Amino acid sequence: MKYILSTNRLGLRNWKSSDEPPFIEMGKDAEVMKHFPGVLSDSDSIELIKRLSHHYEQYSYTYFAVDELETGEFIGFTGLKNQVWESEFTPCVDMGWRLKRSAWGKGFATEAARVCLEAAWPKFGLKEVLAFATNTNLASQRVMQKIGMNHIGKVQHPMITGDTRFSHCEVYKFTMQA
Ligand SMILES: CC(C)(COP(=O)(O)OP(=O)(O)OC[C@H]1O[C@@H](n2cnc3c(N)ncnc32)[C@H](O)[C@@H]1OP(=O)(O)O)[C@@H](O)C(=O)NCCC(=O)NCCS
Repeated sequence: MKYILSTNRLGLRNWKSSDEPPFIEMGKDAEVMKHFPGVLSDSDSIELIKRLSHHYEQYSYTYFAVDELETGEFIGFTGLKNQVWESEFTPCVDMGWRLKRSAWGKGFATEAARVCLEAAWPKFGLKEVLAFATNTNLASQRVMQKIGMNHIGKVQHPMITGDTRFSHCEVYKFTMQA
């Protein structure tokens, strides 16, 4: 398998149709989706894969599908994506990550995020990258801190309506060295 980005343990690539079943399963896990308004239906997950794949074709980066190299198993996504919803911090490119539960706690998100950040300028021409997480999502914020992002503010996510627990977001930023 030829990966777009890789680390010792992980390969990051564009999405393929065989990712659908494990991604659908992950989207139904209430613990994985705890910081989002709800779990995902089969069609939500399939649509999301399509959008992320299309984003890759347009921009050459996306929230990449992540494989664990030792097993070749798909474990979730990590990557870079354009965000155009309206706020003082957007438009921007953000980093996002979501892994299946059995892959948590092994440093995988941090490892995948680091390689994306390292590639952001030389490979994708991005001078800065933001990241957003609900204020209750401490694991995600810890990943941001560990890869050297700085907390720059808070934002009310306009696309997440209804239950406001999910719209209070902390904002982190990484600016590339000149
Ligand atoms: C967020 C997520 C990707 C992290 O993946 P991971 O591979 O377990 O992350 P890492 O192991 O690289 O690092 C996680 C860090 O958070 C810490 N952490 C985990 N749970 C925590 C919690 N409840 N409170 C505080 N810190 C926590 C870990 O101890 C670790 O920090 P450390 O290395 O200093 O000990 C994973 O939990 C996930 O997929 N969550 C569901 C989806 C999601 O919320 N995505 C982010 C949306 S913004």
